[in-house]
Amino acid sequence: MTLPIVVLISGRGSNLAALIECAKRNQHYAIVGVISNRPDAPGLKRAADANIPTQTVDHTSFPNRERFEQALAEKIAAWSPQLIVLAGFMRVLSATFVQRFAGQIINVHPSLLPDFPGLNTHERALDSAVKLHGASVHYVTAELDGGPVVAQTRVEVLATDTAASLAARLLPKEHILLPTVVDWIAQRRVEWKQGTLFFDDQILSQPILVS
Ligand code: GRF
Repeated sequence: MTLPIVVLISGRGSNLAALIECAKRNQHYAIVGVISNRPDAPGLKRAADANIPTQTVDHTSFPNRERFEQALAEKIAAWSPQLIVLAGFMRVLSATFVQRFAGQIINVHPSLLPDFPGLNTHERALDSAVKLHGASVHYVTAELDGGPVVAQTRVEVLATDTAASLAARLLPKEHILLPTVVDWIAQRRVEWKQGTLFFDDQILSQPILVS
């Protein structure tokens, strides 16, 4: 069975492009819709070029977060996805929204969580002089970037790195990490049941390293 997924984006959509490619190759999941909160997000064109239906729910045209999320939730629900993938979606989602789609939302975050939740992760990694940086794919809970981490990918931090060079070296690895996790979820190899993560029916006590 092919898992129907909806992808939420805010910008470039390079992770979306990686998801589209993987869906074509493996056919374990199908992207049934893409939603952007920004009408000018270049990722919308990537979806349209792949004949994937798109919607824009512009957060600036709603009086408050609650109304924005209501509209967003309705658009998502209309496609009946079994998984919602945040791929560069730059809005924080409230507990109410997360509960509505409990256990069905994952996010790609550009740090080795629990290090550096939130924004400007590459700058903060450099400021903290960490030797290893990376990206994580985690289930979304009401706590910002705080849900259980399924898998991570790592990059070494070089003495010459800038935030831009670090981001550029990490991005191609995100493009492997995110589709890999979505594929595992689609095949039921990864499951999050009663607060516990499983991989191939074994409890996952630490994130899987994807290289
Ligand atoms: C990625 O680095 C992702 O980890 C972060 O935002 C960026 C989105 O890039 N959440 P793109 O829109 O997928 O190209």
